[in-house]
Amino acid sequence: MLSEENQQALLAWYDDHQRELPWRQTNDPWAILLSEILLQQTQVSRGLVFWERMVEVFPTVASMAASPVDAVLKAWEGAGYYSRARRLHALSQQVMLAKEKGGFDGRLPSTYDELLSLPGIGPYTAAAVASIAFGQAVACVDGNIRRVMARQTAQPEPTPKQVQTWADGSLHAQRPGDWNQALMELGATVCTPRRWSCKTCPVQASCAGEVSPAKYPTPKKPRIELLRLWAVVEYALDGHPVLHQRPMSGMFAGLWGPVYHTEAEKVDQTLLKCGVIAHQLSHRRIEVEVYCKQPSEFAIGTNRTEVALSSLDEKVLHLAAQHGP
Ligand code: ADE
Repeated sequence: MLSEENQQALLAWYDDHQRELPWRQTNDPWAILLSEILLQQTQVSRGLVFWERMVEVFPTVASMAASPVDAVLKAWEGAGYYSRARRLHALSQQVMLAKEKGGFDGRLPSTYDELLSLPGIGPYTAAAVASIAFGQAVACVDGNIRRVMARQTAQPEPTPKQVQTWADGSLHAQRPGDWNQALMELGATVCTPRRWSCKTCPVQASCAGEVSPAKYPTPKKPRIELLRLWAVVEYALDGHPVLHQRPMSGMFAGLWGPVYHTEAEKVDQTLLKCGVIAHQLSHRRIEVEVYCKQPSEFAIGTNRTEVALSSLDEKVLHLAAQHGP
């Protein structure tokens, strides 16, 4: 646990050194919830542009609930992990339902337990939103906080329960939202995985791991899997590519794109080969061999600006467009 003295030191450091992030300048719970869903899997620097786009397109929970899920996917385009966008849409619709129907009469709920009952909200996001937007004294745990805890207590592999117990015991009950963000901020900017900066750390005095921060927590071995795919881009006579909406589950669910094959044999080898695209997701490297087909009068094209595409499909279409239609 961090002592009261350390709590004060960390909060004072946060007050002086926090990054100016737009979701810290608002107390609108919907805008805060959007930021936390985005930041679950997207770095702060990249999350900024997507957050700005989302609050502009969907300024309220009601505005999202009244839109089709495709509009949410379109606004989310490029942010990755598209299941978050689909769940966010489901969340907005549930919030708009009447209380008797399991909803919240159009107002975001304010407690950890109620937030946790919504689609796409796990313990981290429920605690982050309950504390930051509503001031509930609940401690959140993410990768940054786990690293701070592992170093403070010199534990190479703390279990989720140990981290939660430490975070619960360290929480500053009067300023829980600032407290949770201060710990995350420390992990993101000072107590970083590599190139940490113990000299500027406000809680250095109580850190048992300072002599060898690299050991805490034990670095995970990255498991990078390679997926090979073959894309065939077909064009209509109007020059638009033929795009299909992918099924609502699986990779890039609900987004649009050309046909992908998982075996080379499925591709007609007389087609024009445009090249290979390499794309990196967090635990997966994807290599796509791109082929294009001559325009056909039977093909129906789709204007790509009107549908949501993954960044990978953007690259595939860009490469294909250099060789066809
Ligand atoms: N990561 C996720 N949410 C955050 C927040 N509110 N502040 C800093 N880092 C975060």
